[in-house]
Amino acid sequence: MIKKCLFPAAGYGTRFLPATKAMPKEMLPILTKPLIQYGVEEAMAAGMSTMAIVTGRGKRAIEDHFDVSYELEHQIQGTDKEKMLADIRDIIDSCTFSYTRQTEMRGLGHAILTGELLIGNEPFAVILADDLCVNDGAGVLEQMVKLYNEHQCSIVAIEEIDPSQTNKYGVIAGSEIAEGIYRVTTMVEKPSPADAPSNLAIIGRYILTPDIFDILRETAPGKGGEIQITDALMEQAKMGKVIAYKFRGKRYDCGSIDGYVQATVELYEKSKVK
Ligand code: G1P
Repeated sequence: MIKKCLFPAAGYGTRFLPATKAMPKEMLPILTKPLIQYGVEEAMAAGMSTMAIVTGRGKRAIEDHFDVSYELEHQIQGTDKEKMLADIRDIIDSCTFSYTRQTEMRGLGHAILTGELLIGNEPFAVILADDLCVNDGAGVLEQMVKLYNEHQCSIVAIEEIDPSQTNKYGVIAGSEIAEGIYRVTTMVEKPSPADAPSNLAIIGRYILTPDIFDILRETAPGKGGEIQITDALMEQAKMGKVIAYKFRGKRYDCGSIDGYVQATVELYEKSKVK
């Protein structure tokens, strides 16, 4: 059983300045919900109820969002606005939130290692909230949990990208053991198109086995001088312990203006159909 989901949420979100000057990028809304709430709902749908959030300076709005707001709730009690808070109320009632701060920005691998105390010695999921994933059937994390139950090793979600874009992603290569499922043999963080082992890019969903923490402690800074989760996963891949999975569904890169606008427009269109 995977019970915990880690959310690295310490990054600055510089691509959205000035909107993210005083507000965490994870709180940017798509329609009426902040990005991180979509992530939490995806984790809940996959059976998780402990949300471990690695924050940083200026991120207090995330904690307040996942807490009761007595004054506001009192004000709208009994009005037709009450239903607007039903989803978030449900999340607060059924999940536990824990937080720790990453005091230095030393990369995604370092952020995940910072979350070790909140996770402990058990397999866990990771969601990068600015990758918003939607699917009409089971959510991406739910699909990955199924795969974890079969393989009992780390799982990364992948998608095919335009080969010119490899320098934005961790890129994998491996042998396809079933349709869309690969046993990973190579992983490279943000390779140039000429050096990329394929066009299969890792997106912001992971299931990690807890030995990743010891590996991360030994992982030297890599691309961009940062401690990369891709490099740590490569150590597990050398032992045949990483599966890459072409998920069903659609991912929006809400860390970019284009992806954010596209997600907003498409989710809005969908909401009108309902
Ligand atoms: C991180 C990872 C990268 C992965 C990407 C997915 O990069 O380092 O391997 O492909 O997330 O969104 P970032 O986008 O934080 O630079």
